[in-house]
Amino acid sequence: MEIRKMIAEDIPQIAQLEKDCFADPWSAASFTSELSNPLSTWLVAVDGDVVAGYIGAQTVLDSADIMNVAVLPVYRRTGIGEKLINCLCTHLSQRGARSVLLEVRVSNTPAIRLYEKLGFTVVGRRPNYYFHPKEDALIYRKEGL
Ligand SMILES: CC(C)(COP(=O)(O)OP(=O)(O)OC[C@H]1O[C@@H](n2cnc3c(N)ncnc32)[C@H](O)[C@@H]1OP(=O)(O)O)[C@@H](O)C(=O)NCCC(=O)NCCS
Repeated sequence: MEIRKMIAEDIPQIAQLEKDCFADPWSAASFTSELSNPLSTWLVAVDGDVVAGYIGAQTVLDSADIMNVAVLPVYRRTGIGEKLINCLCTHLSQRGARSVLLEVRVSNTPAIRLYEKLGFTVVGRRPNYYFHPKEDALIYRKEGL
């Protein structure tokens, strides 16, 4: 499994993975636009030609926001999510971030366990942040990148 920067050729597989994972998926066009956003960092985990997972964040000054992370169902629980976050944090630190924030559905136990394992802690809650279904978000932060 190799972790590398996302390229345009990865986008069709990522757009499909988004549709499979999220009720409000990002479009292929959104990812295309993100690849030319100087504030953004997008990484993929690849197994040969298969994009097994991806993650992305935006950095403003010394603070970063993780926008999305997902792993193909058949590759889950093999450590890819953990590798993607750790690798992303290294990239974010190199571009000056000292802390990273993210939102997660309160019911998303796999993601919450992953973030807590990697040292993220809850710093807030946004009521009704998500739709389809409507649900609160927990805000997690990790300091000292
Ligand atoms: C959340 C997600 C990215 C985790 O990816 P993953 O590659 O399966 O995670 P890893 O294998 O790296 O797991 C690392 C740790 O996370 C936790 N974890 C991951 N999946 C879990 C699950 N189903 N149940 C409980 N804990 C889980 C465990 O602590 C695990 O460590 P362990 O295997 O030593 O117990 C994946 O489940 C996913 O793509 N979910 C759908 C998309 C999504 O919800 N993204 C998050 C949006 S905020």
